[in-house]
Parts: sequence; C-alpha cells; structure tokens
Amino acid sequence: MGVRIILFTGKGGVGKTTSAAGTATLAAGRGQRTLVMSTDAAHSLGDAFACVIGAEPTPVAPNLWVHQVDAQRRFELSWGDIQGYLMSVLDAAGVDPITAEELTVIPGAEEVLALLELRQHALSGEWDVIVVDCAPTAETLRLLALPEALNWYMSRMFGVQRKVMRALRPVLTRAAGVPMPEDSVFDAVERLHRDLEEVQQILSDKDASVRLVLTPEAVVVAEARRSLTTLSLYGYRVDGVIANRVFPSDGADAWRDAWVAAQEGVLAEVRQSFVDLPIWTSSYQPGEPMGAEALAAFAEAAYGDSDPLAIPSGDGPMTITRTEGGAVLRIALPFAAKEDVDLARHGDELVVTVGSYRRLLALPAALARHTVTGARVEAGSLQVKFRSDNDDPQEQP
Ligand SMILES: Nc1ncnc2c1ncn2[C@@H]1O[C@H](COP(=O)(O)OP(=O)(O)OP(=O)(O)O)[C@@H](O)[C@H]1O
Ligand SMILES: [Mg+2]
Repeated sequence: MGVRIILFTGKGGVGKTTSAAGTATLAAGRGQRTLVMSTDAAHSLGDAFACVIGAEPTPVAPNLWVHQVDAQRRFELSWGDIQGYLMSVLDAAGVDPITAEELTVIPGAEEVLALLELRQHALSGEWDVIVVDCAPTAETLRLLALPEALNWYMSRMFGVQRKVMRALRPVLTRAAGVPMPEDSVFDAVERLHRDLEEVQQILSDKDASVRLVLTPEAVVVAEARRSLTTLSLYGYRVDGVIANRVFPSDGADAWRDAWVAAQEGVLAEVRQSFVDLPIWTSSYQPGEPMGAEALAAFAEAAYGDSDPLAIPSGDGPMTITRTEGGAVLRIALPFAAKEDVDLARHGDELVVTVGSYRRLLALPAALARHTVTGARVEAGSLQVKFRSDNDDPQEQP
C-alpha cells in the first residue's frame, strides 16, 4: 500500500506553502496520518500553522505533523568524508587536482538530504499522506532532476574511481602515505546510490504527483507552463493546478473591476493551457490564511467537490509501446515545440534536452539492444522509434 505523496511548486510567493499546508490539513481531517514537510530552506510552514516547529516532526493538529528538514549540516558531514577521501586518492594517483575537484564536487547537497528524508518518511509506514512544500520552481526542478543526475554522476565517478584503484592498487598498497579506501567510504557511496534510486522510484510512482500553484498573472502562468514541460521531461506526474489569489468580483470599485477583468483573461488562458488538468481556484482573502482552521477552509474552498487525495489516472509522462520489430518510447512534453527539443543517444542512454533542461535517461533493458530509427515532436510529446537489433535468430520467437 503506497503512501500518497503530493508536492507543491510554483513561482515565489504564489501560495505554495498555504496550499500545501491546507491540503495536508484536509487530509488529516479525514483521519489520514499526514506529514507536511518542506524542502525549502526558507521554512514557512511554522508561520502558516502559527506554531513553533522543531527539528523533528512536530504535531500541529490531530493526525497532522510538520517537518522542516534541516539539511545542510547533516549532509555536509556524511558527504564530506567521501569527498575528502576521493580527493586524496585521485591526487595520489596523479590526477590533475582540478579534475579531481570537478569529480568530487557534488551539487545540491542540501536538497539531497531533503530527498533522503522524504524517502525515509515514505518508507517508514508511519504516514498515509506526505505533502511536500517545495521551494520556488527553478530550485524544485533542480531538486527533482537530482536523483537521476546524481546517480549518473556517481556511477561515472566511481567508474573512474574503480579503474584508478584497479590500475594502481599494487603501487598504492606499497606506497607509504597513500590512503586506502575504508570500507565505510564505499558503503556510504553505495548506500547513497541505492537510496537515490529509491527516491526516484517513489516520486515517479503512481501515488506521487506534483501540483502547480499559480496566481492569474501572465508571467506566473508562463512559468507554470514551462514547469509542466520540465516536470514531464523528468517523468513526474502533474495532477492539478491551484489558481490562487483570484479577486472576488462582487462589490467592485473601478480598481477591482480592472483586476477582475485582467485576471479573467489570464484564467481563460490557464484553462486553455492546462486543459487536461483540474484547475482549482482560490479567492484572494482579506487576510492571510494562518492556523489549521483557516488553512483547512482555504483548501476546502479551493478543492470544492473534488478529492484532494485522488490518485492521478493515466499512464504518466513516459510510455513504451511495442511495435512490429521494435518499440516506440513516448515522453509527454506539453507545450514543447520541435525546435526546443534535442535528442542524442550515448550507449544505453538517451539524452533529451528541452530548452535549458536535460535528462540523461537510462534506457530500460528492453530497449538497450535497439537502434533509434527516428524521432519526432508532435502534439506535445516526443516519440522515439526503436528497431530491434536482435540478429540472433534463436532469440527471435
Ligand atoms: N488566497 C490568499 N489570500 C490571502 N492571502 C494569501 C492567499 N494565499 C496566500 N496568502 C498569503 O500570501 C503569503 C504568501 O503565501 P505562501 O507563503 O503560501 O506563498 P509561497 O508560494 O509558499 O511563498 P514562497 O515562494 O516565499 O515560499 C502568505 O502570507 C500567505 O498567508
Ligand atoms: Mg513557501
């Protein structure tokens, strides 16, 4: 039985924390054991609930806990060992120190710990629902690209490391003062590798989805559209849009009339853009929704009759369809135009670039012995055609 995981992202200040906290409060109110956690270093969940939150999950209402991950310290400690060791080995092996440094600098250490924390919570069996209040869009996209990118990076780095070790072991063992890897270093790396793979599995599972929060302003909507493209590229399911801070149209003066009209225009564009997704609207309130009661009311008004915990339907952004003599890999890339998309194959990897985002997609074993015979971008999706290269007649049915 999977844990329902819902992530909230969107441009700065649009209401991510409020929406995440509100959704979590509704879930808890239905008797679901709910955890709301933030990956954002600017922790504002405590402010939203008007509670003091400690370093551990802190109860704020019946069935509802808040966890603000204090990433930095803990990760720097554990990664510091591995990095320091590698530097010394590569240096001793005569690898140019700049290369060594490049090989061992790990981006996004802070985010990694937040992801590992999420993994632990997801596997703990303690929660029915985990709501994640993410940092603004760009950081969140970086965060969600991280497990795969980092795993790619680690296998490269440790591929190099293993080769270096194999070649130099006889020398190294004889030479004085050259550090040999402690088992704990390798263990730590292997564990991290496994854990990150698991994080990715958890987040690309059917029970996990991302919600886009926006306000009805042209620039905000433009960013939300780009996020949908990038989230799909990385294989995450987006299951709804919260349009927040919509001006109520009643009792209007000229100033409000103008805003209402402008917002209606943008909302029409939102509905057109995200035609396959539910769009939940939430009105601009005369005060900040703070505290569990106000947050629940906020979410209740936004979701109306729809189930905020419904599991997204459909196949998700990536599918593989068998064809005669091959297969077609389809990646949904909403809004992407042909000229935005670039595709390359490196061995068993497919490198898909959309705008400034790139995914290094390890081809599933079923496609690894296939040749790419064509690709096209059409109706918001990338289709890559593969031909089976299996020339061993015995393996053909
Ligand atoms: N519909 C609304 N009506 C009135 N105030 C709102 C509404 N939605 C959010 N707010 C208030 O706006 C402020 C910003 O909201 P919130 O913190 O949820 O945004 P955020 O997207 O998480 O911001 P950040 O990018 O800084 O994390 C908060 O003070 C919040 O209480
Ligand atoms: Mg926030």
